[in-house]
Amino acid sequence: MHIFLTGITGLTGSAFARAAKRRGHTITAVVHRTPIPDDIAADQILEGDLRNQNWVLQEVLDKFPQVLVNAAAVSSPAACVADPETSQALNVDLPAQLAQLAHHLSARFLHLSSDTVFDGERGNYAPTDEPGPTTLYGWQKLEAEKAVMKNAPDFATVLRLPLLNGNSPAGDRSVHEKLFARWSRGETVRLHEDELRQPCLADNAAEVLVELCEREDFHGIRHWAGAEPVSRWELGQRIIKHFNLPENLVERVSRRDSAEGQNRPADLTLNCTSLKAKLRTQPQSLDEQFAPLIIPHAARKWYHSL
Ligand SMILES: NC(=O)c1ccc[n+]([C@@H]2O[C@H](COP(=O)([O-])OP(=O)(O)OC[C@H]3O[C@@H](n4cnc5c(N)ncnc54)[C@H](OP(=O)(O)O)[C@@H]3O)[C@@H](O)[C@H]2O)c1
Repeated sequence: MHIFLTGITGLTGSAFARAAKRRGHTITAVVHRTPIPDDIAADQILEGDLRNQNWVLQEVLDKFPQVLVNAAAVSSPAACVADPETSQALNVDLPAQLAQLAHHLSARFLHLSSDTVFDGERGNYAPTDEPGPTTLYGWQKLEAEKAVMKNAPDFATVLRLPLLNGNSPAGDRSVHEKLFARWSRGETVRLHEDELRQPCLADNAAEVLVELCEREDFHGIRHWAGAEPVSRWELGQRIIKHFNLPENLVERVSRRDSAEGQNRPADLTLNCTSLKAKLRTQPQSLDEQFAPLIIPHAARKWYHSL
């Protein structure tokens, strides 16, 4: 299949590109600021800014793909607040346009969304549950979902993902990479014992995306996550144990103990039952997710000094 991929240099997009190439698909990929790592092969590389709608229109019509996969985003909630105009363009306007184009080409469209479309009051959210975002990032992801399903109801699948484990090309996007960055700056990280998440490995999510590319029978909003719901604190503990790090690098705290904590959704676990029943790829345990993780390059000096 010929796949038009955005976000190939990101955590999820790079994992998807590797998985899709393993399955023999042809990839036309958009790159922007970050160069493609050597271990990722795209068949065609387009250099451009996805905020430029005329450029996107021309390139998609010219390449005429069978599938569009959108893994580009401003994916950090803080970056959305810092530059709402750019994040609106990437997180809302771009998926809305790609959905229109997919409809026009009768191509499949896979768009990535997030557990942060929910408020976290209940947990174990099903795709049919009422969203209620609590951050600008979450609101943008929800607005995009609505635009995508309106513009390409017969061609689009929106895959909501949880917090992601993995090795990103930049070395700073996944759970352990963010922790290592803070530890190597000398920080003890305070992690909430009452903030539940259901992390997934980016490579596992990528395998799901490849299966969805190859299937004609999926439309609408779907959930995917790992096999183990876990608190932020327990996740930090498990990462420490996996890398054999000192236990005092994380401090166990409650959301109730800080204003910042009280604003964070308590439980963003996702119910993936419907998708899990239909796919070859299955949710992974935390140990399975940790096995491929490497020490981020920028933290290696600190790690070896311990
Ligand atoms: N990371 C998570 O934990 C997580 C959790 C749930 C859902 N998601 C969702 O999964 C998707 C992928 O997230 P991610 O964390 O994998 O993303 P990421 O690592 O932050 O990568 C973002 C990608 O978007 C590209 N991009 C940004 N601005 C661009 C522009 N103006 N023009 C062209 N490309 C641009 C970046 O390329 P450059 O660096 O070259 O700009 C990069 O390849 C997003 O929809 C996100 O909301 C992520």
